[in-house]
Amino acid sequence: MSVQAPQKRLTAPDIRARKGGEPIVALTSYHAHTARILDQHCDVILVGDSLGMVMHGMESTLPVTLEMMILQGRAVMRGSQRALVVVDMPFGSYEASKEQAFMSAARVLKETGCGAIKVEGGRRMAETIAFLVERGVPVMAHVGLTPQAINALGGFRAQGRDPADWGPHEEDARAVAQAGAFSVVLEAMAEPLAARVTKDIDIPTIGIGASATCDGQILVLEDMLGLSPRVPKFVKRYTDLGPSIGKAVADYAREVRSRAFPGPEHVYPLKKTV
Ligand code: KIV
Repeated sequence: MSVQAPQKRLTAPDIRARKGGEPIVALTSYHAHTARILDQHCDVILVGDSLGMVMHGMESTLPVTLEMMILQGRAVMRGSQRALVVVDMPFGSYEASKEQAFMSAARVLKETGCGAIKVEGGRRMAETIAFLVERGVPVMAHVGLTPQAINALGGFRAQGRDPADWGPHEEDARAVAQAGAFSVVLEAMAEPLAARVTKDIDIPTIGIGASATCDGQILVLEDMLGLSPRVPKFVKRYTDLGPSIGKAVADYAREVRSRAFPGPEHVYPLKKTV
């Protein structure tokens, strides 16, 4: 009798070991079905708090709750087998203290089964990252444009376009690397700064709007599929699913109205013996 070996999932140390190697492929997913598709191609699936805007039509990620992240994290874990699943910590669930961060992260790991969490912030989060890592929580950091700080930043603007502003961004990246993060997302960062940071730190950088100089790339799935009404400059739309979905729904509506759907192949006839 042969027993099939279960598929081995990538881990945070596997991703950490990819520094300077084959680029890390990452995308967001919030559902089991999309996670299943991504799993065949991606090293990392991020259950991003962008779900607030993408799934719920919120104006920002700020209203997203830990319960929302856990629910979608569980769905993505059910849909995937191989990729490292990282769940975002939502605004308000980790910033107050390192203890609060640990309690929230522990819930995410226990209740979803995911392999790592992500927090936004550089130097200000370093102590918390070290506290989590020492207690067995793998942490992906996120610097540059940090959408949870949108009210303080004053808008979704690219960071580091003037070299005079580079210092704090470089210090943020160094701080999270030294604190023990296994990778760091660089969001909306000018190319020369992203290149410099990637060279400077010994953990993989995963860029979103931060150029091909990073050790990997991430995009929001719905943005690259053409489902989001507005996308930032750094998004490449690999397809345009909106019109295809619109056409399918229009065809369905027409066939329901004309009683062409359901057809004979879609109904249950009586059993042959009856
Ligand atoms: O929430 C999210 O989708 C993210 C990515 C944009 C990196 O944090």
